[in-house]
Amino acid sequence: SDFNFHIIQEYFSLFMRGTLYTIEISIGGIILGSLLGLIIAFGSMSHRWYLRLPTQGYIHLFRGTPLLLQIFIVHFGVVPQLLGHSDPIVAAVMALALNSAAYTAEIYRAGIQSIDKGQTEAALSLGMTRGQAMRSIILPQAIKRMIPAFGNEFIVLIKDSSLVAIIAAPELMYWVRSSAAQYGRVWEPYLFAALVYLVLTYSLSKVLKLVERKM
Ligand code: ARG
Repeated sequence: SDFNFHIIQEYFSLFMRGTLYTIEISIGGIILGSLLGLIIAFGSMSHRWYLRLPTQGYIHLFRGTPLLLQIFIVHFGVVPQLLGHSDPIVAAVMALALNSAAYTAEIYRAGIQSIDKGQTEAALSLGMTRGQAMRSIILPQAIKRMIPAFGNEFIVLIKDSSLVAIIAAPELMYWVRSSAAQYGRVWEPYLFAALVYLVLTYSLSKVLKLVERKM
């Protein structure tokens, strides 16, 4: 039958509020994830085994199990344990951040290890400490190389944040599924959702292109 715009109209304000949650959950996930990822990255490159083993284990654990499973464990286990009650938004941000930390840790590591060792040696021979060499020589160059990968990770998080609809975090996909179920319709809600996700990821990729060109 015909495309029924009435469904989208009726749910429009909920879809928009959901989209705002989608954006907020993804931003929360990428910020907290890249902070935790930074710690994990330095741990994973350490020559101290007691820092290296747990952080490398962390990366294997979170990259080697499904994100959906991690969302369930955080939502039904970790958050109730920590807060004494469940909170889908907190669980959503936490699960995405914990997952993303494993991926961003590898982005940091790859970026840092892509800078030639000779540069560190040169800095050390000029009398810099390892920390100074890392901060003033290695990181400024490495960060430039990491930006495309970080942009990619952010786009992945926006799309994968749709998984938290399953734990009733009221983001875009949650309201889209509700409307689909209420009206027994497929095309209107899901195509609309596709359009919104496309607008989000496409505009983000454009912004990232600009940032890359600026650097
Ligand atoms: N589909 C993958 C999974 O279920 C995605 C993991 C998230 N990816 C990411 N770069 N944060 O495990």
